Amino acid sequence: DPLDFSGVWRFRRLFPFAPPDKVMTVGEGQTLCQRADHVAAYAGMNPGCLYLQYEGMNPSGSFKDNGMTAAFTHARMVNARRAACASTGNTSASLAVYCSVTQLMRAVIFIGSGKISYGKLSQALDYGALTVQIAGDFDDALRRVQEVSSRLGIYLVNSVNPFRLEGQKTIMLRILEALRWEVPDWIVVPGGNLGNVSAFGKAFAELRDLGLIDRAPRLAVVNAAGANTFYQLYEKQGVRWNGGAYDAPKVDRYMTAMDAANLRADTLASAIEINRPVNLPKALRALERCGGVVREATDAEILDAKATVGAGGLGCEPASGASVAGLLKLVKEGVIAPSDRVVCILTGHVLKDPDATVAYHTADPAHFAEKLGKRGVKRVQFANR
Ligand code: F0G
Repeated sequence: DPLDFSGVWRFRRLFPFAPPDKVMTVGEGQTLCQRADHVAAYAGMNPGCLYLQYEGMNPSGSFKDNGMTAAFTHARMVNARRAACASTGNTSASLAVYCSVTQLMRAVIFIGSGKISYGKLSQALDYGALTVQIAGDFDDALRRVQEVSSRLGIYLVNSVNPFRLEGQKTIMLRILEALRWEVPDWIVVPGGNLGNVSAFGKAFAELRDLGLIDRAPRLAVVNAAGANTFYQLYEKQGVRWNGGAYDAPKVDRYMTAMDAANLRADTLASAIEINRPVNLPKALRALERCGGVVREATDAEILDAKATVGAGGLGCEPASGASVAGLLKLVKEGVIAPSDRVVCILTGHVLKDPDATVAYHTADPAHFAEKLGKRGVKRVQFANR
């Protein structure tokens, strides 16, 4: 069966919404789960205890393809002619790939005027997406695209779209497969719009219901410190799912205060530069089910972690480094034990944001002062230099 060549659709019995002849695949989900002792050492973990899940190996270079193939398939089922998203770059690159390969839909992309990386922007442009830059950041772009697509009847593929999350469940299935269905103790994932953590929580709840696993791993979500709404709400303000009775007014008050203070998300990990995570309730539910935790990491911590991943492995983009930066913290705190079995999700490819990488390693003050200098990024010293 050709669908068995997709790392997403070979699990389609776990999200049976599409007739096989409607499925749109570009070969997504053929990703790698690798033991990473050099990163384990960096994080203070024992050899053999840490695995990295390289989702950057997807056709568009990020985990988004796992979900996009499902949303795009649904868009086709409802005969959509155009599909839209707001994006910090990866969702748009993914949508653009599906539109360009299948020639079935026109991609309409809203990006904020902030910091989309050139790797990601160039994908959207080359794949022929209609790319619109709006004044404002990702959160503004998402509001705008929601308005525009409901007004014009354009199919929306941001992670408010539930089919996206169905596809993203398969990241966990592939990890379990790689670990021979021995459930890890922890999954660590960067948090932006919180689609991944929501999807992962759903996957584990369903696998338990089906009797395929007897316990779920704990989920750790890592925000960038400059875009830390989820961390603030969950860890500082104690917002919890509470069987569905979560304190929505408290969340609203936080968002309103953020607006009043004109607090804008600001991080070099531009993929997760998001202050209004649309999947917040679903993410709260996911964390309730597994005793999850949330941490934040500064840009300097994120870039150090990213460089460590790259120094002995296949590399990742800055936002993905957040998972390793968060792991380091959780091990230091004693929340994660050095002997726990942990999988960090590396959400995007190292080539997505070359500017950030070059800036980090050269730290050329004249060239990069604006980007890095004032943040005081300290470079990792490697023994082999
Ligand atoms: N890592 C990368 C590389 C991302 O591109 C994103 C989200 C995340 C992590 C966060 O994942 O939203 O499921 O919590 N990027 C979106 C985009 C917002 O537009 O590409 P999440």
